[in-house]
Amino acid sequence: MADNIVWHSHPVDQATRADQKSQHPLLIWFTGLSASGKSTIAGALEQVLTAQGYHTYLLDGDNVRHGLCKDLGFSDQDRKENIRRVGEVARLMVDGGLIVLAAFISPFRADRQIVRDILPAGQFVEVFIDTDINVCRKRDPKGLYAKADRGEIKQFTGIDSPYEPPETPEVHVAADRLSVAESVNQLLAYLHHAGALRAGYVPLAVEEGGPEE
Ligand code: ADX
Repeated sequence: MADNIVWHSHPVDQATRADQKSQHPLLIWFTGLSASGKSTIAGALEQVLTAQGYHTYLLDGDNVRHGLCKDLGFSDQDRKENIRRVGEVARLMVDGGLIVLAAFISPFRADRQIVRDILPAGQFVEVFIDTDINVCRKRDPKGLYAKADRGEIKQFTGIDSPYEPPETPEVHVAADRLSVAESVNQLLAYLHHAGALRAGYVPLAVEEGGPEE
């Protein structure tokens, strides 16, 4: 770190910005395998929150890797740097009063813990999107599991690169047994009970039938 840098406090702070938006700033961090449903569930939750008047921003792994993190690959070191950068950006956005949703494989416990530690207490919610790797493999929307099986992609999470599941996430979503709407409702219920939502939130309608692919 550079020398001679002193933190400067400003008169407008997180509480001011949160009050202006009438919401509790939060980082909702989705972790799970590729094709587990992180982005889909985070996007659907963001849609509900936005419709109910909350100010949000969704940081998504595939998108962030087009810009902020386009110089990074998938070695352990690069994934660590990916999560460090995203954590810092998310921290700034939460300081800006937003409800931030982040959807990254984020395979390493220690890296997720670093992000938790830089957020104010109670403003980090870890969500484990727990989808069996065989279900992810079957979905394979980008054909990446097939490529990894053929050896065309190296260091693919769950194949030749590790995934460390959270031990005590705030929310554990059994996403391969729930529809997207049911997963979103589980998250809304958690946020409601944690006091993060205004009174009277509206859950999504749940269709009869099995889990969505
Ligand atoms: S992380 O491990 O650093 O958190 P991140 O969430 O940003 O990963 O990016 C994951 C996305 O990159 C996957 O959804 C997939 O589309 C793509 N991808 C490309 N190569 C790999 C790989 N080797 N392992 C995992 N995902 C990969």
